[in-house]
Order: sequence, then C-alpha cells, then structure tokens
Amino acid sequence: MNLDNITTLLGDNWKGYNNLIREQLHSDVRLLNEINASQLAHPGKQVRPILSLLFAQACGKPGPDSFKVAAAVEMLHNATLMHDDVADASDTRRGFPTLHSLVGPTSAILIGDFWLSRAISTLSGNLSFVGLFASTASNLAEGEMLQLQCAATASTSEEDYLRIIYCKTASLFETACRAGAFSVGASEATCDAAAAFGRAFGMAFQIRDDILDYTGDQGLGKPVGIDLREQKITLPLLGLLSKCDDAEDLREMVRQIPARPENCEKLYHRVRDEGGVEYALHYLDDYTRRAMEALEALPACPERDLLAELVNYGNARRV
Ligand code: IPE
Ligand code: IPE
Ligand code: MG
Ligand code: MG
Repeated sequence: MNLDNITTLLGDNWKGYNNLIREQLHSDVRLLNEINASQLAHPGKQVRPILSLLFAQACGKPGPDSFKVAAAVEMLHNATLMHDDVADASDTRRGFPTLHSLVGPTSAILIGDFWLSRAISTLSGNLSFVGLFASTASNLAEGEMLQLQCAATASTSEEDYLRIIYCKTASLFETACRAGAFSVGASEATCDAAAAFGRAFGMAFQIRDDILDYTGDQGLGKPVGIDLREQKITLPLLGLLSKCDDAEDLREMVRQIPARPENCEKLYHRVRDEGGVEYALHYLDDYTRRAMEALEALPACPERDLLAELVNYGNARRV
C-alpha cells in the first residue's frame, strides 16, 4: 500500500488540512517561520491526520472542524517528536538531521512548545476538542516520564510497558480517530468505536516501532538500536525476560549500560536469538485483531477498507 493513494483519495480534504497547518504555524518571528518551513518539507507519513480525515469521511462530510482536528493531531505529534529527539539524543529523523542537532536542544524544545500551543489554539473555538487534546497532551508527557522513571531502575514490567505505549502513542491515535468522527457529528457509539480502533492501532504501531528498533536498517530514517542505549525495556526484551532463567542478571546488565555500553550488543543478540521479536509479534497480531474488530462497527464504505489497509501497512512497515 502507498499512503499517497490515500491522500489522493482524500482530495480537497487533504488540501484543506495542508493549507490550515501552514496557516496555523505562521509567526512574526522570521527564524521560526524558516525552521517551520524546513520541518514541513519533511513531513513524515502523516498517519494521524490521515486517520482523522478517513473517519470524518466515513461518518459524514468533512468540513473546517475536521481540518482543524487533522492539523492539530499532526502538530501535536511533531511537537512530541521534537521533544522526544532531545530526550533520546537522536540525531536523525525521516532520513534528515533532527531539529535539535541543527539548532540545539534549547531552540528545539521551544519550537516544540510553539507547535504544541498552536495545536491547541487551532481548536480554540471548540471546547470539547480542547479538553480532549489537553488530556492527550498530558498523557504524552506522562508516558515519556514513566518511561524515564522505569529506565532509571531497569524495572519496566509488561504492565508498565503497555501503559507507557498507550500514553505516549496510542492515546494520540485514539484522539485522532475519535475527534475525526466527532467533527462530522457521528453518534457517540460510532465515536467510541473510532476511539477503540485508534487505541488498538496505536498500540500495534508502537509495538512495530519497538520491533524495528531491533530489526530495522538504515532505511528507517532514524537510528536503530537506540532504545536499549537509553535503557528502555521494550516488548522484545520483555519477551526474552519472560522466558529466560537469568532475568535478574539481564536487568542488572541494563542498569549498567551507562558504564558498560557493550552490554547493549550482548542483550540485542539474546533478544534476537531467543525469540524476543516473535514474542512481540504475538502482541502486534492481537492489537491488530482488536483494531479490525472495532472497524466492524462502521458501515461498509471505501474509507473503512482503507482503514483496514492502513493497519496492515502499519504492521508491515519498514519506516
Ligand atoms: C514516530 O511516529 C513515533 C512513534 C509513535 C513510533 P511516526 O512513525 O508516525 O513518525 P513520522 O511522522 O512518520 O516520521
Ligand atoms: C515514541 O517513542 C515517541 C513519541 C510518541 C513522542 P520512540 O522514542 O520509540 O519514537 P521514535 O523511535 O523516536 O520515533
Ligand atoms: Mg525516540
Ligand atoms: Mg522508537
């Protein structure tokens, strides 16, 4: 599947979203405008606005509120990536140098704050949207903080991991889908089904991302093998920990990574050789199944088929 096919199908709705995001990011500060233009020149996959607009189109006739939702989810997503790349000390994103590696961490954080505040102000005419997005933004921050808290002690349990990925990734997918449906006046039951779909797809999307951190290559456009370096225990490693008989020793190796970076390589091999990736793939399948089930609540339509294709694309993706 090619995402360009979907955006072509979204036609004027895709144009409406694209025009709005540019308009909303405008500033009187020249330097900010220049940096924003260079960010927009490498837009990434734009999965979240695609989700909002597909749900809006599946449930009614998209209008200005739908474009606002689509622009806000993508601005919020980019803001979190700008901050995340500082937190993860990542130097490439989408095949290009990260913002912080070009302008330094202080400017990158401020520009992330600007995108975050413009995401919320885009929605200012509609208080239900503002409430929804504000709670999503706080989930994103809580997810990243919980991740840091767990990394510091190498104590991440499977329950912690699932909460982290819900907060940092799935909650925004959930909001993108719910708000897309809500923007065209869909019923409460339909909005709930859209949210359930977004939640399950978002969990699957982050699990795929965490698998790619073990199996990906240069084509990913961002560093691989970075999670362990940051002492993040993700699902492939949890898989290994659940079946090996030296789990406590392995957690100790994770704790010692800052002093012994060579531990990363040893742990990577064990995860790959002892079924950690396959373990994570089972979860990926389970969340995929849940996403597909949630779609059944929607009436049959071309957008519903595209949403199912998007889930399959997300699961098989290499970028
Ligand atoms: C990256 O998201 C962060 C995760 C939630 C895994 P995407 O893979 O959607 O990033 P872009 O926007 O396409 O670069
Ligand atoms: C997702 O986690 C980050 C956010 C949702 C902000 P990752 O740290 O794994 O994302 P990538 O791999 O840098 O894109
Ligand atoms: Mg990261
Ligand atoms: Mg990642």
